[in-house]
Amino acid sequence: ALQGTFPLRAVKQKEAFQYKLQPQASYKVAVLGAAGGIGQPLALLIKMSPLVSALHLYDIANVKGVAADLSHCNTPSQVLDFTGPAELANCLKGMDVVVIPAGVPRKPGMTRDDLFNINAGIVKSLIEAVADNCPDAFIHIISNPVNSTVPIAAEVLKQKGVYDPKKLFGVTTLDVVRANTFVAQKKNLKLIDVDVPVVGGHAGLTILPLLSKTKPAVSFTDEEIEQLTVRIQNAGTEVVEAKAGTGSATLSMAYAAARFVESSLHALDGDADVYECSFVQSDLTELPFFASRVKLGRKGVEAFISSDLQGLTEYEEKAVEALKAELKASIEKGIAFANKQP
Ligand code: NAI
Repeated sequence: ALQGTFPLRAVKQKEAFQYKLQPQASYKVAVLGAAGGIGQPLALLIKMSPLVSALHLYDIANVKGVAADLSHCNTPSQVLDFTGPAELANCLKGMDVVVIPAGVPRKPGMTRDDLFNINAGIVKSLIEAVADNCPDAFIHIISNPVNSTVPIAAEVLKQKGVYDPKKLFGVTTLDVVRANTFVAQKKNLKLIDVDVPVVGGHAGLTILPLLSKTKPAVSFTDEEIEQLTVRIQNAGTEVVEAKAGTGSATLSMAYAAARFVESSLHALDGDADVYECSFVQSDLTELPFFASRVKLGRKGVEAFISSDLQGLTEYEEKAVEALKAELKASIEKGIAFANKQP
């Protein structure tokens, strides 16, 4: 049998699961925007999961080849391709998880909000199709600006009468992955052990790593806190600049998104110990959406880890207050877009 571990989610060694030629569960996952920079490596990572029986790849172009290529991997899931709006409904029917990395990425000098004009409309139309065809699916939104595209999705789902706030997620896993990596490097810790909750949103100052809540407990100087916080907030821009006009993070994003998919599938499968950070409808603050650690279960968000926001350092308390104005404006911009007359 094909053997190996698949440790995308930070799990204890004894929990790490093995590949098997037979699927261990049979969940159905769709990727919308599957021919893109994120979509392709994400599809590959999902194809490697023993929990998936069907992998549906949708894009407006170039997805046939991606699916043909992936379908030759001898892992359990069946890969099907769907091109253009006429095939979107068939792509979505019966899906348990829908991941959306469709849209344009940043170029140097752009903020995530600069993508709004194009990506807002893409997310709106894709979510309308999700509402019509698989309203019970977990929805993972990667398309930026996440701080606005998630509220857009919520409004569209409300308009369609199928909004379940527990199943709509903005994917902020990459912020956590980056925080874990940078903290482990700085403090010489074993990567697998490090877990830093990242709260707020997914753009600039709204990305707030709670370094005081790092596990295992570590102490930082004020200088280290400032340096690490700024680096985590600007890590996306670091990649945009290094790629010099050819796009933004795709491989690390695919890794992070695959981890969030895997965690969701474990939650759907009844694993009682699944925690991830995500940008979700939340009552942890006065804002309608907020990223925090959440406990995932079969029905989506089962609990908010409110203790992460208690006992913060003065630096973190100030940063939480400071990010609210920008986050609020981004949320309102999304809501207004979704409700404007066509
Ligand atoms: P890309 O341009 O390489 O790929 C985007 C794909 O979306 C293309 O294949 C394109 O054909 C497809 N697409 C466009 N309109 C579509 C539609 N209406 N329906 C279906 N597919 C459509 O871009 P990349 O690098 O994959 O980035 C995708 C998005 O992910 C961007 O908005 C980017 O800002 C965002 N992103 C989010 C991150 C996060 O942490 N949440 C991190 C990195 C990127």
